[in-house]
This record gives sequence, structure tokens and C-alpha cells, in this order.
Amino acid sequence: MPFERSVTVRVPAKVNVQLAVGGRRADGYHGLATVFFAVGLYDEVTVTPAEALTVTVAGTDAAHVPADGSNLAAKAAALLAARHGLAPAVHLHIAKNIPVAGGMAGGSADAAAALVACDALWGTGEPPAGLAHLAAQLGSDVPFALLGGVALGEGRGELLTPLPVGGAFHWVFAVADGGLSTPAVYAECDRQRALGAGSGEADVPPPTADPALLAALRDGDAAALGAALRNDLQPAALALRPALAATLATGGDAGAIGSLVSGSGPTCAFLAKDAETARTVADALAASGTCRGVRITEGPVPGAAVVG
Ligand code: C5P
Repeated sequence: MPFERSVTVRVPAKVNVQLAVGGRRADGYHGLATVFFAVGLYDEVTVTPAEALTVTVAGTDAAHVPADGSNLAAKAAALLAARHGLAPAVHLHIAKNIPVAGGMAGGSADAAAALVACDALWGTGEPPAGLAHLAAQLGSDVPFALLGGVALGEGRGELLTPLPVGGAFHWVFAVADGGLSTPAVYAECDRQRALGAGSGEADVPPPTADPALLAALRDGDAAALGAALRNDLQPAALALRPALAATLATGGDAGAIGSLVSGSGPTCAFLAKDAETARTVADALAASGTCRGVRITEGPVPGAAVVG
């Protein structure tokens, strides 16, 4: 009985090891040259046949995740159902481990997981390109959560090219108290730019991928990657959340070989040369009182996949 079963999909968080932001486009988005990197912090989304589309969320930050039709995972289920002329009659349970509104694409990850899970449950048989197309309609970061690994993201982040990576990298993430709104961080970036040369597409050089960063990834060279980390949204995130400067300094002082705000923040990411240094950096961050929690992980890891 295929319609009696549940499907569980595990999906990773991301950090942007490069986030080069172009000028504000006419549609309000910003052209990007970003390098997405999937890390081993996961949410799990379980879909079960139900009378109607419903959502429950478990995990430390569950109270901050909408448990109704506004949840991006619910929108994903509804979008796939509509495409196939089905009713989105599923219950979605989200086991949340990725920081909420943290710049690690947790909501996008849940949407990607819901697409994969519903596709498996309903037997809709969407090819990868079809899922990617639906994902891009849901949000700029959703296609990457399907793909995982490391990929260059262009356009508004949805146009992906997988990149070669020569090894595993050790990461520490400092989870902040509370989230940041992605539109607010982009708006602050625009505001800062408008004080100088301007914030439009004609005012900001077109974003490009940094060859040194791509070589560091290809060679598995952590020191070179640490030196090449770059996030154009970081000044805006720091302006909105000045306390993040102390978090970044703490990880650097403890031996991280690179650090940056993850995406639009406020999670901060630290690259360590090995597992032992990652532990030292994590301990220093935990002891410092400059963050709410600390996670150690490795990457890259694969994208959304059925696990049960
Ligand atoms: O695509 P998504 O819905 O995740 O984007 C959320 C918001 O982030 C957008 O409404 C926009 O304000 C901002 N954004 C942007 N440029 C991008 C991606 C996102 O300005 N490339």
C-alpha cells in the first residue's frame, strides 16, 4: 500500500564561502556570484498521508517556525501537488536542527526536503531538473539544498554549477540569539552602498567567482580557503547586529583559519585546519558568552535525500 507509508528526507544546511553581491535589480533581487557549501547540520522532514495539509515542528527553535500554510515546506508540498493535479493531503513533520533565520538556509532546506519527500510519497517521478525548477520558485536557496556538495550559484542564487572539492573541511558554527531577516540585511547593504557609489546594477561591479577560492576548494587547501572567505553581506549583518564582531574575534583568537558571517547571518562560521582545532575554537566560543550555541561539523555533504 504505497499511500499508507511515510517518507523521511534528511537535508543539510549551507554556508556561503563566497557571497559576492551585485547591485539591486529591477525585480528587487541582487545578482550573485556565490559559492554554496553544504555542511553536516541537518533537518529531517517526514511526510505522511493526511486529510489536509498540516505541519508540526520539533526542536529547540520550533516555536519560531510557522506551523501553517506559510511554512515554506508546506508551500513546496502545495506546489508539487498543484503541478500534478493532486490534493496536497499530507502531514509534514519537521525535526529542526538547523538554526532558524540564521543565514544557513534552514527554511529553504525544509522546502527542498518536502519536495523530495512528497515526490517519493506520491510517486510523481519529477526528474532532477523538474524539482530544481519548482525549488527556484520557492526561494533562491532551495535549488542548492536539493543538490548539496559545493556549487557556484549565479542569477539570484538559483542557477547552479557543481564545483570540484579536493577534501573535507572542518567547520564550527556559532549560533546567535535570535535571527536576522534576509530582506532587512540586503536592504541594509543597499543603504550602505547608497552612501557611496550607489546600490543599483549600474553602480556595483558585476559579481564574479574568486579564482583563488575555487582553487582552494579544488585542492582541499583549508588555509587558502580560510584566507579567501568573503561575504559582501557581512558589513550589513554587523551593522544590524554589532555584537557579532566579538563572536568573530573570539573564533579567530582561538585559532580559526578563517571566519565569516554565514549568508545573511547572524550565525558565524569558522574554518579550522583540523578536528582538534575545531574543538578548541568551539570551546572558546562556548566559554565566551558571545553566542547562544556552538556546532562542530564537516563538509561538504550531499543534498536532500530519502532516509526512511
Ligand atoms: O529568494 P528568497 O525568497 O529566499 O529571498 C528572500 C529575500 O532576500 C528576497 O525577497 C530579497 O529581499 C532578498 N534577496 C535578494 N537577492 C538575492 C536573494 C535574496 O535581494 N539574490
